[in-house]
Amino acid sequence: MQKHITETTEYLISKGFDKPEIGIVLGTGLGKLIDDIEITAEAHYNNIPYFPLATVEFHTGKLIFGTLAGKKVVVMQGRFHLYEGYDFVDITYPIRIMHQLGIQKLLVSNAAGAINLDYKKGDIMIIDDHINLQGGSPLAFKGVSQFGERFADMSAPYDANMIATIEKIAADHNIDIQKGVYASVVGPQLETRAEYRMLKIIGADAVGMSTVPEVIVANHLSLPCLAVSVLTDECDPDNLAPVDIEDIIAVAGKAEPKMITLFSELIKTL
Ligand code: HPA
Repeated sequence: MQKHITETTEYLISKGFDKPEIGIVLGTGLGKLIDDIEITAEAHYNNIPYFPLATVEFHTGKLIFGTLAGKKVVVMQGRFHLYEGYDFVDITYPIRIMHQLGIQKLLVSNAAGAINLDYKKGDIMIIDDHINLQGGSPLAFKGVSQFGERFADMSAPYDANMIATIEKIAADHNIDIQKGVYASVVGPQLETRAEYRMLKIIGADAVGMSTVPEVIVANHLSLPCLAVSVLTDECDPDNLAPVDIEDIIAVAGKAEPKMITLFSELIKTL
């Protein structure tokens, strides 16, 4: 894998991806942060050697390099999901590439369902812990110890300093934020009522189909990360209406300005 990582990285450097300091993964409906970036290079996933081929129609699927809030950033506009048929190693390959390019911090966003019913549609939730329900690990491959400790520590997967900073930024900007546990599932089907009940019982505040594999790999690489969910639907098992994916995207879009403020202000402090 290291040979592929080197080749991919060399390709991106040749395209102008010049020593990014921060990596950002933008989730469903959260692509507008790009408008605030002074872009100096970009590469479509399909043109990047060894990247998985992008499929989901909601994502434009490109890697962007530029300046945001005075920092050099590399941004994934759209991510890879298990539900598209990729494996754990495929979907986390871009994290390894951003790390190899030199990022010091990783910021991740996603759209998620609210399991904690005190949290409402449109709220932003800082992830402070997670539950991996995806039935596998991005570290379960031969040769993983070449990249870090196989039995990666997960006692604090989300960087406490960045969490404290973003909470302060939210308070300063009058942005309400929640904090909680994100459970990752494979999808793409949404959950049954019984599954939502189970997620609540096991301690999840939100559920989604991404993020956790990326965060596991970041931790394995000793890359501090922060992750934020936009809560796009309320998963009340006793009043469950069918979920409309268009609605999820629309809600994510509405919460986007808050997310952009939080990320941009956080980046200024890093
Ligand atoms: N379940 C899983 N993933 C999701 C949901 C949900 O309710 N909402 C947005 N992403």
